[in-house]
Amino acid sequence: MAEDFEPKIVGFLCNWCSYAGADLCGVSRYQYPTNIRVVRVMCSTRISPHMVLRILREGADGVILGGCHIGDCHYISGNYYTERRFEMMEKMIELAGLEPERIRLEWVSASEGERFSKVVSDFVSQIKKLGPSPVRNKPEVAKKLEGAENASKSFRMKALVSKEYNLLTKENVYEEMLDPERLRNLIEQAANDEYERSLILTLTQDKSLSVKDLSKIIDVPTDRVLEHIVALRQKNLIAMEHPDGFTPTYHAIIIGGE
Ligand code: FES
Repeated sequence: MAEDFEPKIVGFLCNWCSYAGADLCGVSRYQYPTNIRVVRVMCSTRISPHMVLRILREGADGVILGGCHIGDCHYISGNYYTERRFEMMEKMIELAGLEPERIRLEWVSASEGERFSKVVSDFVSQIKKLGPSPVRNKPEVAKKLEGAENASKSFRMKALVSKEYNLLTKENVYEEMLDPERLRNLIEQAANDEYERSLILTLTQDKSLSVKDLSKIIDVPTDRVLEHIVALRQKNLIAMEHPDGFTPTYHAIIIGGE
């Protein structure tokens, strides 16, 4: 790791607590590293997973999300949803081969100026230990992050993650509570499927690839790649070609493309 590495960090802070905490930190003259660039959002729940994944893909070394303490969100339950989404972001980042420690979620209230400076200092030193983002010199990581970004935008992931909090805290129409473990497993499985399918589409956008090629790049067995191809073909998202006469290859169908 370069001794003089200065990480680029993006911080999303909710208007009512964390941003006000950052403000108090400045007014109170607590020091913190200047590596963070702050984006103010009205509530932490406005930070969509795909935004964070995109920022990492563009080369940020870390992203920190700040919100009100649990129970204090000015929109009542926004930060409960943020917690669920954050778990999905960590999962997607890990699938893409990046350290999940490159993102952090912290609750900082408007009166915790000193805590804000400690949180930022600690996160910056954590990122310094991890070193520069591999995205800068490994294009394959950027491709995988693109796959993760697209997966997090899929209807299935959005629906599951946004409903998770309600599904775990309220009874369904049959007056039953869902088993949290079962729901987590379901979301985990959906995240894996969506990630792998999105990555197949991302990789086959510029070049036709065979099941064997895809299995090697994504690092999943060929039968699983084939299952995804079948699902993608049913949705008319991927097309088959026979360049060698024997081995079929696949390319993504770009809607509105040539
Ligand atoms: S307003 Fe701060 S987390 Fe919702």
